Amino acid sequence: MLKNQTIAVIGAGHMAGAMIGGMVRSKLLPPKSIVATRRSQEALEELRKKWGIRVSTDNKKAVAEADIIILAVKPQMAKKVLEDLAGLLSKDQLVISVMAGITTAAINKGLRVDCPVVRAMPNTPCLVDAGATAVCAGAHACAKDLAKAEAVFGAVGLVVKLPESALDAVTGLSGSGPVYVYMVIEAMIDGGVKMGIPRSIAAKLAAQTVYGAAKLVLETGKHPALLKDDVTTPGGTAITAIHVLESKGLRSVLIDGVEAATKRSMELSRLFAE
Ligand SMILES: NC(=O)c1ccc[n+]([C@@H]2O[C@H](COP(=O)([O-])OP(=O)(O)OC[C@H]3O[C@@H](n4cnc5c(N)ncnc54)[C@H](OP(=O)(O)O)[C@@H]3O)[C@@H](O)[C@H]2O)c1
Repeated sequence: MLKNQTIAVIGAGHMAGAMIGGMVRSKLLPPKSIVATRRSQEALEELRKKWGIRVSTDNKKAVAEADIIILAVKPQMAKKVLEDLAGLLSKDQLVISVMAGITTAAINKGLRVDCPVVRAMPNTPCLVDAGATAVCAGAHACAKDLAKAEAVFGAVGLVVKLPESALDAVTGLSGSGPVYVYMVIEAMIDGGVKMGIPRSIAAKLAAQTVYGAAKLVLETGKHPALLKDDVTTPGGTAITAIHVLESKGLRSVLIDGVEAATKRSMELSRLFAE
């Protein structure tokens, strides 16, 4: 689907670097069909050497030749970058944005063109091809545009389609979610250390337990409550721990965390729109 396309990646930092790696490794398109931009010449040179892509410090030049433009600068840089590119894109060019909290309407307005825009909310596990990304179509994007974005993010993990109204909640769940899981892993490690396991071994056991449990949820398709019940022996260790975790509000606190992050994402979107 993307074989004959040219992609300009504007803001080739961490997230964009993961996407470039995914596209090149999965042979989604030839490396020379990708041009990446950022201000640091040194960092661009590293990207060129690592992936064989073309690089540039000139955003305007990069978008001029591209069929697809990936916007991946930090949200606070978005206004400036959109201003610089305003009036330069045509209605045939597809824009894919990973910039948190910036709506497709704001991107069309900033670029001053009714081009198709697909907004995405990926997460950092994209760096290890285990990302979780939600994509949504802006007013001028069609199913074919969404499919192209799905191909890009599919190269670095799981992709789901949702309406744009759900993107703040996605930010609260999977966008910010790795942080909650790091805290869970860290706490489990401390628990292991407290009970006498060396830290380095506790770290491996805790991380692999989270990874394995997530893999079981995904691969069996079973509800997590059923998987939990499967391993809860009457009078055993798991049910004893479950009672403690329930009484301390583990599930409520995680639900509250997703809710709070979603609300903060909404606030930040409003700030950009002002
Ligand atoms: N990291 C995540 O988990 C995550 C998750 C979901 C969404 N996102 C979104 O992804 C975007 C990037 O995040 P990140 O973590 O990858 O940040 P990052 O590593 O800082 O990448 C942003 C890049 O933009 C470049 N840049 C800044 N100004 C520029 C300009 N005028 N023209 C071209 N490039 C420019 C910077 O490089 P120079 O300084 O060399 O220019 C930097 O490498 C953000 O909008 C964020 O909301 C990130």
